[in-house]
Parts: sequence; C-alpha cells; structure tokens
Amino acid sequence: MHVYINGSLIPESEAKISVFDHGFLYGDGVFETMRAYNGTVFMIEEHIQRLFRSASLIGLDIKRDKDSIQSALYETISNNSLKDAYIRVTVSRGAGPVGLDPELCKEPTFIIIAEEFREYPESYYDNGIKTIIAETKRNIKEAINPQIKSLNFLNNILAKIEAKKKNAYEALMLNAEGCLAEGTISNLFFVLSQNEKAVLCTPSVDCGILDGITRNIVLELAKKHGIPAKEGRFKKEDIYRASEVFITNTTMEIMPVCKVDSVSYQVGSVTKLLHEAYKENVRAYLSKSYTSSQLP
Ligand code: PDD
Repeated sequence: MHVYINGSLIPESEAKISVFDHGFLYGDGVFETMRAYNGTVFMIEEHIQRLFRSASLIGLDIKRDKDSIQSALYETISNNSLKDAYIRVTVSRGAGPVGLDPELCKEPTFIIIAEEFREYPESYYDNGIKTIIAETKRNIKEAINPQIKSLNFLNNILAKIEAKKKNAYEALMLNAEGCLAEGTISNLFFVLSQNEKAVLCTPSVDCGILDGITRNIVLELAKKHGIPAKEGRFKKEDIYRASEVFITNTTMEIMPVCKVDSVSYQVGSVTKLLHEAYKENVRAYLSKSYTSSQLP
C-alpha cells in the first residue's frame, strides 16, 4: 500500500510523520472517512466540504483547494489499484515545537490512507448488532463541538470501551442533558409508532452530534418514500419503546440494531426499505459520477 503524505505517495513501511506533529502530540487536527464504490468516491464533494468546515472550526488552513484534494484522493486510489475502498483523510496542524500555540506549526500534515474495503459480516445486516447506552456522555458542544470531526476521539473511545466490556458493537451516547445523541462512529435512528403510523426519529443536530452525510441521505430518502421523520430531543425511554433501531455512517450505510441494553428489536420493514433505497441512491450517484479510470 502507498500512503499519500504531503503530496507524495510513500510505501506503507516508510510512511512516517514527525513525533513533533501536533496531531500526535495534542490531537490537533481533523479527518474524514469516505467510501469508494467501484472506483468512485461516494459524496466526495460533501466530505471535502465537511473537511473544510472542521478545519475552519479549529482555525486550520489546509493550504489545498477542493480540486487538489479531489485529485489527491483519486491518485491515491488508483495508485493502490483500488475499486471498493475505505479512505481516510487526516489533516493535522503539522510539526512544530511543543506547545499549544497553533502558530508553532508552519505547514499542516496532509495524509490519505486508502485500503481495500472490508465488508461488514452479512449477519450484522441480517440480524442487527448489539448496542448499549454508554455512561460516558457526548462532549458538550460548547466544549468540543461534535460537528468538528477532530482527531480528538477520546470521548468516543471511552464509550467504545464500555461497549466492548458489555460485548456490544456500538455505544450510543447521551448528551449532558440526558438526551440521545449519537453512536461513537455513527448516527442513530429509531421507529416509533404514533397514531398507528411509523415515524422515523433521530436526534436533532442541536443535541450535539455530527450531522452525518449518511444521516442526511436517510432523511431525504424517508421524505421521498413518504415516511414521516422527526428530528428532535429524545430520551432513552423513547428508544426502549421503539419497534426498529438502526445506525448510519459512510462505511456501514444503514446497520440494523438488534439490542439496546437489554431491549431487543427485529430488523423491521422501515430499516429494510431505507437500506434498499440507500443502495439504489449509491447506484444512481455512481452512474452520474466519473471514476478514477476516467481521470486525465
Ligand atoms: N464516522 N457520528 C460520529 C461521531 C461519527 O464519527 C460519524 C462518522 C458519524 C456518521 O457520519 P457520516 O454519515 O458522515 O459517515 C456520526 C466515520 C465513519 C469514522 O469515524 O470513521
């Protein structure tokens, strides 16, 4: 594998950064995770836009424009002969003397890792995954805004440790007010019955969550398919009485949940319909986009 570091593609074994990089020393940086299907990076514009938003929220100048990031992404994918890929873009403040002052670092470190996409086990989609509601609360947005996709992932890692201890795959986090927020690497959806109609519920962005790109697509697809959706403030009691639960992110797409704490759920019709619609949406995107092989 070759890793893209500051403009060069370097063999994995030689791909190294300074121990003085502030991304390493202080978690000072941002990232994006993308997925390529058959050589096309899905929602590339939205991911690059969010990378710029995250960088701007921490006052980090990436020193590259959208087009050069797009070219670097495709260069990395094609250099590694990838079609279906997991892609991680990391931009850190760069190397500089120790100290928190961002001005100590003159150049950001820009890294792209692209590797063969590893499919999640089919049984996860067929049966759902186990989750818990973590004791660890989501960072409050006035401290570290969850809309910054930052290298500072300890909040999520602490929740993930709780999940692992309880043999669960994902931890769902509450915000400081006790409202449902999101998973450690995912957004959360569930179906509640209101007047005998299924309503798709998801915590609103002001609960202090990342406004996931997959989440936005799911909300659009729900609208298109006439499924009423509600973004709001929900408590854990709401999810305990839901008929279906699923989580979303770029790599998982729509992942059914079979358990939240001790409450069990079936993989229901809303989850299945939305996942099929999501896959169709990916296909439609691919048919409209160019692929790495079509690049000049
Ligand atoms: N995670 N919430 C959090 C905290 C996340 O880290 C992610 C994505 C999401 C979903 O966002 P999207 O739909 O745009 O992928 C929500 C990526 C996959 C990661 O951590 O690698």
